[in-house]
Amino acid sequence: MVNYDVTVFTANRIAASTFNNVFIKLVGRDGESERKWLIGLRGASAFVKGATASFTVSCPASIGKLVLVELDKQRLLLFPEDSWFPDKVEVKSPEGDIYTFPIYRWITDSEVHRFRGGAALTVFADDHHLGRYSRQLELQQRKDDYRWDVYAEGLPHNMKVDDPLSLPCEVRFSFTKTTEFFFTAGTGLTELQLKGLSDCEESWTNFEDIDRVFCCKTTPISEYVQRHWKEDALFGYQYLNGVNPMLIRRCTALPQNFPVTDKMVFPHGQSSLDNEMKRGNIFLCDYKRLDGAQPNTINGKKQYLMAPLVLLQKSPDDKLMPIAIQLKQEPADDNPIFLPTDSEYDWLLAKIFVRSADFSEHQLNVHLLRTHLLAEVFAVSLLRNIPMVHPLYKLLIPHMRYTMQINFLARRTLISEDGVFTRFSASGGEGMVTILRRSLSSVTYSSLCISEDIAERGMESIPNYYYRDDGLRLWDIIHRFVKGILEFYYKNDSKVQQDSELQKWILDIFEHGFLSQECSGIPDRFTTMAELIKFVTMVIFTGSAQHAAVNSGQFDYGGWMPNTPISLKRPPPTEKGKSSEDTILSTLPDVNVTAQGMATMWLLSQQSSDFVPLGQYPEDHFSEQAPCDLIKEFQKELEVLSAAIKARNKHLKVPYTYMDPEEVENSVAI
Ligand code: FE2
Repeated sequence: MVNYDVTVFTANRIAASTFNNVFIKLVGRDGESERKWLIGLRGASAFVKGATASFTVSCPASIGKLVLVELDKQRLLLFPEDSWFPDKVEVKSPEGDIYTFPIYRWITDSEVHRFRGGAALTVFADDHHLGRYSRQLELQQRKDDYRWDVYAEGLPHNMKVDDPLSLPCEVRFSFTKTTEFFFTAGTGLTELQLKGLSDCEESWTNFEDIDRVFCCKTTPISEYVQRHWKEDALFGYQYLNGVNPMLIRRCTALPQNFPVTDKMVFPHGQSSLDNEMKRGNIFLCDYKRLDGAQPNTINGKKQYLMAPLVLLQKSPDDKLMPIAIQLKQEPADDNPIFLPTDSEYDWLLAKIFVRSADFSEHQLNVHLLRTHLLAEVFAVSLLRNIPMVHPLYKLLIPHMRYTMQINFLARRTLISEDGVFTRFSASGGEGMVTILRRSLSSVTYSSLCISEDIAERGMESIPNYYYRDDGLRLWDIIHRFVKGILEFYYKNDSKVQQDSELQKWILDIFEHGFLSQECSGIPDRFTTMAELIKFVTMVIFTGSAQHAAVNSGQFDYGGWMPNTPISLKRPPPTEKGKSSEDTILSTLPDVNVTAQGMATMWLLSQQSSDFVPLGQYPEDHFSEQAPCDLIKEFQKELEVLSAAIKARNKHLKVPYTYMDPEEVENSVAI
């Protein structure tokens, strides 16, 4: 007889224990053990939360190199079936080899579950028939568990989920996350002391009242925004380092529909637009995607959503200053081009219409579509096509934590028929689907890769663009890490081409995420290592750094409502010189709309206490030395970047923290 020492690690998390009987079978290349009941001196406490329990499994002879373990649990006659969360199983063979089998998932039934070793295997490297068979079984099951659904035509497909409990356990929120999320969601209005305001369908009558509501909950940046929101410099700054750093581009020729003249912007002949454009000092933000989208009706009142054009100039002291605003796409006499030289209220009102348009462009295109919905596509495709033993699964699964559930909740509570966004935002309802559809058809692969995106927008050299500076460095660090891991498993391009699972993953993304639009530039297959490495880098970057950049500042910049009104309820001025403070107050959203917007932005800016920062991997999916060393190297590089960002921020009036690796979550989880 030979002995295998088996150690079972139950997770140290709430409700991870099982009191059911646990069985194991070891499967090797040359044979298998019997199905063995894991019973030891510790009795029922062997599988309680945080327990490590050891057992011996004996076989008549060595079963060779281990291929997989089979685990199942059976309830005792009088006990209910419970849910068990094992972290991993370790097996020491009679030859002295140690095998780790990562699990990190709930086992809720009495079926047999198969787990492969921590040494990653691509399909072409998996040369044992039982290994290949278990891959097939796993993927068959996953295709049943993770099915595509269509929320609306023209949008990326999403996971079919009828209610949160029908989400497979492995992708559900933890107990901690669920409790905190619903607590904040349920108490947001109370916490912000807005409760009495949520039914008030009146206009604000003065800014002091808005201040009284706002001052209950602030952040240092939201307070700064409140003090400076009327200033042109902060208006311009937000295009670089606010929640939407993606729209601005260098302008080399004025669009036909934006007839700004030199006289308008350089009334004393100081310079000319041509000269300034040649010097690279002129920038454009064009909200054309919003043009013609059906605006909402809120509290029985028609709302207004503009599709503005904004021209900005880099000043000699490196500030980005707005110099002209046209609120509708088509030039006309009743569509004036507003200028900083106009009356205070005309100019402020024009900027408010732009900020409100930016809310819709940011939330729908930049935040929801380009991070949340795409991250879900990457995750569902991964779960349907890539088995746990695959290096890509091990690499990507930590970057997909909670994404399916947060998106399900967004569909149910934000953009559903009675959702907050649908009821209270200018672009809620019909307009939303129009804007999302247009946004998807404008997403290109290169715009998801930060260095190409920056180059395409001509934003390489503008100073103080911290989103760009931090993002490019983060991309490089992620890219080096991904390259190291993938080069360890794929020795050349033909290995990439041979990996049928990998090819199905990218094809699923192309078809279900980008609706087979070749013009997006998204590949439908990988032919080289370089293509694979770049794509996987983009997937991790999008779910972590990019999402943090466009998510974490929502309350900072949106908490003080006049800086980011989620809707506006009067049309923009059609002529100059008629606006006053009263015009602004009666244009801003009603009191209840303001309260709902503030509470939602508060909720979506909160970090959960089980937040996992970028590059931290509490679950050991990899067990080989090389990937484990690469993870350590990755973490070191992130630490260095974090320290550099903190040092830079010390000298900034408004620190840019959203892409500090310590503040970036591994996945789209909020
Ligand atoms: Fe988010």
